[in-house]
Amino acid sequence: MNIDLPDNSDDISLDPIKSTVKYELDSLEKKLKSALRSDVSLLDNICDSLISNPGKRLRPNVLFLAARNADGDPEKSITAGFAVELIHTATLIHDDIIDDHDFRRGRPTVSSKWGRNIAIIIGDYLYSRAFSALSREGLWEVMSILARATNAMSVGEMLQFQHKRDVDVSEKSYLNLINKKTASLFAAACESGAILGPNGGCNRNEYSMFGENIGLAYQITDDLFDYLAAEEYMGKPVAADLFGGKVTLPFITSYKNAPENVKLRVSDILRRGFDKEGCWDEMLLFIKNYGGVEYSIEKARNFGEKAKTFLNTLSPSPETELLCYTADYIVERIIPYSG
Ligand code: IPE
Ligand code: IPE
Ligand code: MG
Ligand code: MG
Repeated sequence: MNIDLPDNSDDISLDPIKSTVKYELDSLEKKLKSALRSDVSLLDNICDSLISNPGKRLRPNVLFLAARNADGDPEKSITAGFAVELIHTATLIHDDIIDDHDFRRGRPTVSSKWGRNIAIIIGDYLYSRAFSALSREGLWEVMSILARATNAMSVGEMLQFQHKRDVDVSEKSYLNLINKKTASLFAAACESGAILGPNGGCNRNEYSMFGENIGLAYQITDDLFDYLAAEEYMGKPVAADLFGGKVTLPFITSYKNAPENVKLRVSDILRRGFDKEGCWDEMLLFIKNYGGVEYSIEKARNFGEKAKTFLNTLSPSPETELLCYTADYIVERIIPYSG
């Protein structure tokens, strides 16, 4: 069976965006270096280690583009981007405790290097630092948008627990979960950028919907990559979601399509606790053979296309074009295939 995976030779990158918002991105890095200083060396060591090994900075990138398009004050957008990236980093640190993962971005996680207790505190420190930066600079509306998103993310993480090892979870529940846990911050980042224009900006709803839809696409591709991508490329554990009881779209789809005997077999594997060595190849075949891979790619592409429709209603600009390009990046990014 042929699976239409994104073409590995199609090397789509974030470079065109990064060069456009270079001033904001460079300022963000400077702000991260200076504003996380404290008088506690342990805290500073951990923050230094986080800053020296950055992620893709995807959420600040979209925020900066939205703010530029709204003609927003760059300094305000840098503070908003700073807050968004800190919230994102905090959720990853806590997420790695929950998922029991020992590496991220190719390096040891905070919890594996310094222990879970310290990881909890660092996560809280980054959350509170994000909100104190916003309040210090009087960015009240951004603060309210990000507070709502942070709350939604916690609810999403809790929903994930509620659905742990639940083979009967519906696609609708899954989408609701990933909307809260991931898309809410993308939506908030885009909306925060849009409102920074003169007189409160405009089109915030369109930007929020754009962000929500790229966020959904992003989590679906991430969930698919957990099955298909190579660890070296992701910089974090793969083949791990199912092992931790996370039932994601590739599984949900194949489970719906599979015959009764296969359903019984995979639900047995999942419920009795998953033996990675013994069952992984079987689970891979399951998601490939019963449509889980193809459907997840199609869904991610659909959300990417839907995202663009919200920006297509606005007057075209280099920034909206780059935001649409971000939607393409999210669904077409290369995945060196793990086989
Ligand atoms: C990881 O987010 C968490 C998900 C929502 C899948 P990113 O892939 O944006 O993480 P970094 O910041 O680039 O490492
Ligand atoms: C995203 O889910 C986590 C957050 C939104 C905090 P995952 O658990 O799939 O993210 P990764 O794969 O660990 O980056
Ligand atoms: Mg995780
Ligand atoms: Mg994941």
